[in-house]
Amino acid sequence: MLNEKHKNFLGWNIYQIYPRSFFDANGDGIGDLPGVIEKLDYLKELGINAVWLGPCFKSPNFDNGYDVADYRDIMDEFGTMADMRRLIDEMHKRDMKLILDLVPNHTSYEHTWFQESRKSRDNPYSNYYYWFDTPPNDWESMFGGTAYAFDETRGQYYLHSYTPQQPDLNWNEPGVVKGMQDVVDFWVDMGVDGFRIDVIDQISKDFEGNRNCFGPRLHEFIQALFSREKTAHLFTVGECWTGELDEIHRHIHQDRQELSTLFQFGHLNYGREDKFTPAKGSLTQLWNCMRYWVKTMEEQDLLISLFTDNHDNGWMLERLGSKEYPYESATCIAAMMYLMRGVCFMYQGQELGMFNPHYDTIKEFDDIESLNMYRQLCETMSSVQALDKINFGSRDNTRRPFCWSGQENGGFTTGKPWIPVHSDYKSCNLEADLGSEKSVWRFYRDVLHLRKTHTALRVGSFEPLALRDASYCAYTRTAGDEQITVVCNFEKAQELDIPDACGEILLSNYGRKKKNDKKYEPYEVAVFWRKTNG
Ligand code: GLC
Ligand code: CA
Repeated sequence: MLNEKHKNFLGWNIYQIYPRSFFDANGDGIGDLPGVIEKLDYLKELGINAVWLGPCFKSPNFDNGYDVADYRDIMDEFGTMADMRRLIDEMHKRDMKLILDLVPNHTSYEHTWFQESRKSRDNPYSNYYYWFDTPPNDWESMFGGTAYAFDETRGQYYLHSYTPQQPDLNWNEPGVVKGMQDVVDFWVDMGVDGFRIDVIDQISKDFEGNRNCFGPRLHEFIQALFSREKTAHLFTVGECWTGELDEIHRHIHQDRQELSTLFQFGHLNYGREDKFTPAKGSLTQLWNCMRYWVKTMEEQDLLISLFTDNHDNGWMLERLGSKEYPYESATCIAAMMYLMRGVCFMYQGQELGMFNPHYDTIKEFDDIESLNMYRQLCETMSSVQALDKINFGSRDNTRRPFCWSGQENGGFTTGKPWIPVHSDYKSCNLEADLGSEKSVWRFYRDVLHLRKTHTALRVGSFEPLALRDASYCAYTRTAGDEQITVVCNFEKAQELDIPDACGEILLSNYGRKKKNDKKYEPYEVAVFWRKTNG
């Protein structure tokens, strides 16, 4: 059985904000903390009760804030410490939780630790990073090229798993562990409720096994951060690219008091060769993957995180949705994913049913990963082909400004946005969606509302009805005598004979009234409710 702490997390409806692109309150073209505060009531209305805020600490922004120069101060463009205090207050006033993005694997090269470390081989910070006379292996940076850079001052190479401006911290040095504990405590004292931890699996490296992650001291480091009295109450979600069940078990089982949950990416990688190769996936693949993980993790008392989108991928609808049925396919995915048993994570803009934008020139892109990839691709293919791949896989797809209205720049800013807004902002924006009879936003609101009001949808057990490889998804959620049955038909209209699909209709994306109508339209969703003893 899940303990009370973890059960409570099943009721968190978390919304990921990419601060740079959410709302610009002062017209400089960059989203900011006052902008987030202005939109808290918007989130509340949607049914959100927790926010994961992307990194907002001082940073030279080589990787949009994932290169932190000072973990105790706010990035100039985003506002001030006073704004952060106000944000925490305003959120707590509304009964909302704040989850910060902690980046412990690397700092910015501008961080004082690195500035000191590079000075010599024997200063108090000299071992805070990984230094070598010659690169010890051929590890590559996640953004392309070697992971080792030469520093002229110190006359040695250092490890950077991401950009050269993001040197990896050496957690084997006690000062690093202590330093990061202090950072966590600083924010706990400020009142934050949890952390999303960036690439947590990489803070201990396995040099012997030639793996830049899952090193021998990983558990010890996670415990140093989160298994202390001061931090044991926090909600923590680690970003982790593994797919192995036992590995996951070892990091998030409630008895270990390490992490509350992990982001696993199995369902995003399904059916795609690599991130940048355009591929159409199928809802059947999504169902196969989720049905296994949701069930297995429930059986092992593990909390799964439910999500479709984040700031590191193109939109899921682009791969799994239908342009012919945009509303129906978006709502079908929403119901299928978020009525399952797990912690709910939405990404800003998802509630508008976003497909990827499209651009004819690389000039419209900003992200370091995309720009490096484009350069690399152009060595082996035409620029048109390369751009095709970038349009599909670029992280900028989901990083463009939130479209609040059809006004210039989608109503995101009165100035010039830091990156061009979505090419379809005139038709795909909040105002337009709310003005339409088929509002994806309202459907998401209804889904989140159901999670709030029905115990069965939060903590109830999950039982798949549809088999693997089915052309529809169906499952029940049961708590006590309350049973909810979710049916999501996929691409093609068909008749489905599902005995549990009976009782009252709680939710439909086709205005379904007749309960026992066996005919399901393309992407039709129907959610049924009944008491099993009455
Ligand atoms: C994570 C973040 C990504 C970032 C990287 C380096 O994968 O989600 O945006 O670039 O870590 O910090
Ligand atoms: Ca601004």
